[in-house]
Amino acid sequence: MKLWGGRFEKRTDKLVEEFTSSLPFDRRLYDEDIRVSDVHAMMLARIGLLTEEEAKSIGKALKDIKKDMEKGIFKFEDSDEDIHTAIERALIEKLGPVGGKLRTARSRNDQAVTDLRLYLKKETAETIKLIEGLQEVLIKRAENDGETVMPGYTHLQKAQPILLGHHLMAYFFMLKRDKERFEDCLESIDRLPLGSGALAGTTFEIDRAYAAKKLGFSGVIENSLDAVSDRDFAIDFMACASICLMHLSRFSEELVLWCSSEFGFVEMDESYATGSSIMPQKKNPDVAELVRAKTGRVYGNLTALLTVMKGLPLAYNRDMQEDKEVLFDTVDTLTSCLKVFSGMLRTLRFNHGKMYDSTYDGFMTATDVADYLADKGMPFKDAHEVVGNIVKHCLGKGMRLTDMSLAEFSDFSALFGRDIIDVIRPRRSVERRATVGSTSPGQVKEQIKTARKLLGRPAGK
Ligand code: ARG
Repeated sequence: MKLWGGRFEKRTDKLVEEFTSSLPFDRRLYDEDIRVSDVHAMMLARIGLLTEEEAKSIGKALKDIKKDMEKGIFKFEDSDEDIHTAIERALIEKLGPVGGKLRTARSRNDQAVTDLRLYLKKETAETIKLIEGLQEVLIKRAENDGETVMPGYTHLQKAQPILLGHHLMAYFFMLKRDKERFEDCLESIDRLPLGSGALAGTTFEIDRAYAAKKLGFSGVIENSLDAVSDRDFAIDFMACASICLMHLSRFSEELVLWCSSEFGFVEMDESYATGSSIMPQKKNPDVAELVRAKTGRVYGNLTALLTVMKGLPLAYNRDMQEDKEVLFDTVDTLTSCLKVFSGMLRTLRFNHGKMYDSTYDGFMTATDVADYLADKGMPFKDAHEVVGNIVKHCLGKGMRLTDMSLAEFSDFSALFGRDIIDVIRPRRSVERRATVGSTSPGQVKEQIKTARKLLGRPAGK
């Protein structure tokens, strides 16, 4: 069925019908479309444009249509341009002319974007829950495995020892920002465009506040032109998704590295790893690799919609129908990434011994030695130089820092005392970093405490 046959004499070309149809993807919005229509009918009855009976019969028919859709027995037609058309056609088939009254004071432009906002509200709330789920896994792993000392890196070169818990909690706080971003996003989605008509509003005395309340929106959008031509909320969601996945892609990259035999820091659970068709020995971190890759796909979706919207004149343009596939794909991709990442992290085995042992290589406590000298009054600049010389000495002899004796240290500065032998131990290095935000066990515990509070889940739960 066409919603706009009146002024046309020719049939639409089949190719054009196919090319312009959004039904293959916007049928996902059937539930939202039916809810919006139901509320619109109630609102029309409230202002006297439908009788109570008409509104009731529309409500009942919509319910039946919904049931058919859910059972998979709803009959779509090739000429149904989109989900809105399909539902209106079915309604008219069921009710006759009364079905056609639902279009009073409404356009597909305000209807389509209302559906999309309703859908995205629900999905954003789900996303926030999934982020919280992953945060919880991070907290648990930090609590149970976090005491291990491991290498911290800059430039992917061994830098300073840190606690595994510190590393894990870094991701917790990245996700905290993601969650806040999605919460802000939810607020911006939560405004009702319905009642804006095609672009200029409507001549009917509609009650937008009533519709907003019934549909669970916190308010109505102030300007009808803006209401029908705005897709910022979808772009917001995709930007938040991009940043969140950027975070997961960084963690994924680390896990891929850590799984390698060169690092050997972690082992994927067999249920979260894959094998090779030719190399029988392989156990591959495909899940982490795919999360890393899907991040690129979501950036692509964001770029696509930004580019679709760029330079579009007000108000609605058919270009905007292209909002849906990229948005739906972003929702699906982010959802699956968050779920699978949580599972992977929950089942991952940390190789504590390997992590700890490798902190003895790479002169990771060199900064501690320089701090030691600075603490004894040597300008840090000079201390840096002295420790540089010690490292050079060790490199020449094939020694680790912890192989150095007090006598050897003393050759480099008279300020060294017995306690330097303790200072160069990786665990000691971590313990001594005890100011707010540092990596000492006490500070990591503080982070975990804060994190538990933020999630509203006290310890032991
Ligand atoms: N399927 C369309 C979309 O998703 C509905 C709006 C069509 N409006 C129009 N004026 N042609 O954007």
